[in-house]
Amino acid sequence: MSEKIRLRRLRRTDLIRQLTAETNVNVNDLVYPIFIKEGRKIKEEITNMPNIYRYSIDTLDNEIEELKNLGIKTIILFGIPKFKNKSGDGAYIKQGIIQKTIRHLREVTNDLTIITDVCLCQYINHGHCGVIKNDKILNDESLSVLSKIALSHAEEGADFVAPAAMMDHQVRTLREGLDKENYQDTGILSYSAKYASSLYQPFRNIANSHPMFGDRESYQMNITNSKEALREIDIDIHEGADIIMVKPALFYLDIISKAKNRFDIPIAAYNVSGEYAMIMSGVQNNLLDKNDVIFETITSIKRAGADIIITYFAKDIVNILKNKN
Ligand code: PBG
Ligand code: ZN
Repeated sequence: MSEKIRLRRLRRTDLIRQLTAETNVNVNDLVYPIFIKEGRKIKEEITNMPNIYRYSIDTLDNEIEELKNLGIKTIILFGIPKFKNKSGDGAYIKQGIIQKTIRHLREVTNDLTIITDVCLCQYINHGHCGVIKNDKILNDESLSVLSKIALSHAEEGADFVAPAAMMDHQVRTLREGLDKENYQDTGILSYSAKYASSLYQPFRNIANSHPMFGDRESYQMNITNSKEALREIDIDIHEGADIIMVKPALFYLDIISKAKNRFDIPIAAYNVSGEYAMIMSGVQNNLLDKNDVIFETITSIKRAGADIIITYFAKDIVNILKNKN
């Protein structure tokens, strides 16, 4: 019997291949990261990340319009303040870059889901993700500051806050802080399995968030581990996360797949700056076909089990999908 089975029958025409496709990337799955910088009339392209820009608030409207026209409905915001300081209060003050940005966006449109990154590294002088005493990153002391940041985003109308610091119990602390102030409707997208990856380097160049000393290995996850990622995710779900995240995406497809099998919660994957830079470098050197490699990248992340994909390729993939259908 098996000699009668011919799998190539399902590959014969493009239409049949579409009919039997198991994985279809959809524009609704995509989240586009946006960097906002203090200042005016800024739209500066980022070195080594072609087509990705830093914007000031006054140049943001065109960008939002472009996303709307493409059908991209969700963004995640990263702030680049003018100064870092000892307390990192630029992350939560009323006149902080992210607070002003959300305020502006909420005046312009309600037709946009806004996620905000909740972390200290762009705002605090030492560049670590938590509070430091005697060169140690303190967990519980960091929690109250992270909670303040999240609350300040919720007050301006963020839909989801996304704790990125990898402090233990950050989800529980944020949930309690939000509920206490009646922000029950503000969701938490937790950077649950965030690895201490080499792939964040372009982001740190963009956001000026390199740690001044040491590394992030005492809080971000050990790249050798997968069971630990499932524990991180499990704990975040119990602490009240609405969506969990695996980050980076491409080197961690196994983690996405395991999380998908184990948990019944939306799973986001972050296709990070280093993944974008690597792929675009291959494209610019004519080693890779741009559309093909982007389509394969995003499809792989979805096939592994991601429901939501945060990616600098969001606009490209929409255009690729349009041309395919
Ligand atoms: C903040 C943060 C980082 C990224 C997202 N939020 C940098 C880091 O942890 O060093 C990286 C995203 C990317 O590389 O695209 N902690
Ligand atoms: Zn950080």
